[in-house]
Amino acid sequence: MAHIVAPSLLAADFTELGQALRLVDESPAEWLHLDIMDGVFVPNISYGIPVIKAIRPLTRKVFDTHLMIVDPDRYITAFKEAGADVLTVHLEACTHLHRTVQAIKAAGMKAGVSLNPHTPVAGLEDILPDLDLVLIMSVNPGFGGQRFIENTYRKLDQLVDLRERRGASALIEVDGGVGRENAARLVAHGADVLVAGSSVFGAPDPGKAIHDLLLAG
Ligand code: DX5
Ligand code: ZN
Repeated sequence: MAHIVAPSLLAADFTELGQALRLVDESPAEWLHLDIMDGVFVPNISYGIPVIKAIRPLTRKVFDTHLMIVDPDRYITAFKEAGADVLTVHLEACTHLHRTVQAIKAAGMKAGVSLNPHTPVAGLEDILPDLDLVLIMSVNPGFGGQRFIENTYRKLDQLVDLRERRGASALIEVDGGVGRENAARLVAHGADVLVAGSSVFGAPDPGKAIHDLLLAG
């Protein structure tokens, strides 16, 4: 399967959101990655539900929504109503992860679970067959533009094994420090979706940066 590229809006110029949306809409990137931070689960606050709602009419691309928030269950319906297609919660933020995943699906979205860099893949053993997506954080969540953590390749190998062993079909997404220098290797290790913030919106030609990421692997 060809991999998907998901530009992360966090790295866009927030005074020109419409332009960023047009750029992604006209590009071959299939997904748009939306980072929601609450200042509690992560030491930063980004943007929220009203912004998703405002940009939803500008594109039909898949809204890949990454919740870095505590107690995400409270907002599942609100994210669906705002236009999220994929809703990813952090394993570390959910006490009753199975219930949360079922609630996301019942609301009509694809369900994802994200792991922080220190969280072992083995923690997904019992939930993996229920998931549409696993997001492997390749930096500590909270900020764009950080350096990629090399241990990610090992985690990808373990996750690919676990997925096969469990007969699961969740897509594997990598988020943080992804660019043209590591994209091909990530795809070779099993990444199905590459999130890219600064390597796309910080590039002199963001459209070309998306193309380069798609051609990798
Ligand atoms: C970090 C976010 C990422 C971020 C990636 O907490 O989850 O999605 O936007 O940014 P880059 O690609 O610049 O590392
Ligand atoms: Zn993210």
